[in-house]
Amino acid sequence: MSLFDLSAKNYSEFADTQEAYIFGLFSDKGIPEDFKKAHPNLSEQITLALDNGEFKAKTNQTIVLYTPKCTTAKRYIVVGLGESKKYTSDMLRQAAASGAKQILNLKIGRFAIEFMGEDELGVEDAQALAEGLVMGSYQFLNYKKSEDEYAGIESAIVLSKSDISRALAYGMSISAGVVLARDLGNHPSNVATPTFLADTAESIAKTGGMKVTIYNREDFEKLGLGGIQGVAQGSDVPPKFIILEYSGGGKGAKTLGLVGKGLTFDSGGISIKPSAGMDEMKFDMLGGAAVLGIMSIVAKIKPKLNIIAVVPSTENMNGGEAYKPGDILTAYNGKTIEILNTDAEGRLILADGLAYISQNFELDGLVNFATLTGAVVVALGHRYSGMMTNDQDFGNQLIAYGEKSQDRVWQMPLDDEYAEDIKSKIADVKNTGNAREAGTIAAGAFLREFVKEGTPWCHVDIAGSGWLKKGRSYLPEGPTGAGVRLIMELIKDWA
Ligand code: BES
Ligand code: ZN
Ligand code: ZN
Repeated sequence: MSLFDLSAKNYSEFADTQEAYIFGLFSDKGIPEDFKKAHPNLSEQITLALDNGEFKAKTNQTIVLYTPKCTTAKRYIVVGLGESKKYTSDMLRQAAASGAKQILNLKIGRFAIEFMGEDELGVEDAQALAEGLVMGSYQFLNYKKSEDEYAGIESAIVLSKSDISRALAYGMSISAGVVLARDLGNHPSNVATPTFLADTAESIAKTGGMKVTIYNREDFEKLGLGGIQGVAQGSDVPPKFIILEYSGGGKGAKTLGLVGKGLTFDSGGISIKPSAGMDEMKFDMLGGAAVLGIMSIVAKIKPKLNIIAVVPSTENMNGGEAYKPGDILTAYNGKTIEILNTDAEGRLILADGLAYISQNFELDGLVNFATLTGAVVVALGHRYSGMMTNDQDFGNQLIAYGEKSQDRVWQMPLDDEYAEDIKSKIADVKNTGNAREAGTIAAGAFLREFVKEGTPWCHVDIAGSGWLKKGRSYLPEGPTGAGVRLIMELIKDWA
């Protein structure tokens, strides 16, 4: 999806007639006096809708009104903001998404938006508003012939008393990263191949002045990347081990490490998955997509810190050389892994990614994203990501960034004793825990074995939060872009 123009205007500068005017209303505040004066007929209509109870200005509620006597727009979309007492900027993110959805329904190109009446729109409010408009109007139509002339949203003007241009632009930059992550997820696995992800990384590196290194199948053996090498054996599609290095920090700047699971299709391998829903396993690269989405924002906004990103990328298939249950692989840090289920492949490619990044770079913090376990969907559903850490202070930071961005993480325990669940009789570790026992944590305990001692690390399992069966508010059906807004909060704080 391509983005539209978003600009800010002061009320006094705004006179032109719009195709639509979005107006936000709190459920417990009534219509602001200024608005009543400026739009008496419209206010009367809104009052009628409120009085007969059809419209309560609740979150995600909208009505469309037409009034011949108003000249500022052809139609008015009134959007519920929810209760002002419980106000958070996420309410604006949600309301903007509801408004944007109406705009798409009505096939409108240009519109204006007024959310807080004469009240000041803060910096975080404006950022959330921009994010809500883009994320809420997200569509992925790359493979569908257009049936009409409607080209989507062209431009929007946000009316405000305060100067919010920079906050809007920042919100747009973040949204562009979310859109990239969603698009990468939506492309089918015959398009979004490991090579496609590597090409995306290369173009991000070019824009952002980053160093990019891509390792191929031939390099895995000599580098000792035995995890990805083993998983990739069953697929003829070339695997890639992608590394991006961004050095935006001066002396004393922090360095962040990011690793994302870029499994472009997970058939389960020899431990094959059932066919129902197997198409959804094209989403198994959403961890890698989030990391590339983040790096694309970094390339644009150039924050003052250093970031290393690693995306191990391959398919998990059933070709003649496919790895098998009982095989033993040796990961980058030398630890041996007994394979008991070839469908627990994500942790194997991440093992190499985590060991590689933590041994070759001095990191102040390391976060990995992965659609790693079905068990996390059972535990948390599609709302929170599951988070595990080896450093509670770092974990607490991530929880706070999650609350701030509303790209939320919920911590699960990772006490040392969970290491017992992944002990192998024949190798250092095995790639599964005990059947039906804390599968998400067993995966976390496995990953911890590959992070260099002393590196503060968080593992974020996005198998639930990363994609939705049914969209809600600014999150669409399909890939959500989970992880992108979360890490952008960390970057804002660390830079
Ligand atoms: N990619 C899957 C996890 C997944 C499941 C993501 C559902 C999204 C939705 C992962 O590779 C996997 O298959 N995990 C297994 C691990 C098991 C064999 C220990 C699982 O969760 O069943
Ligand atoms: Zn799997
Ligand atoms: Zn997988």
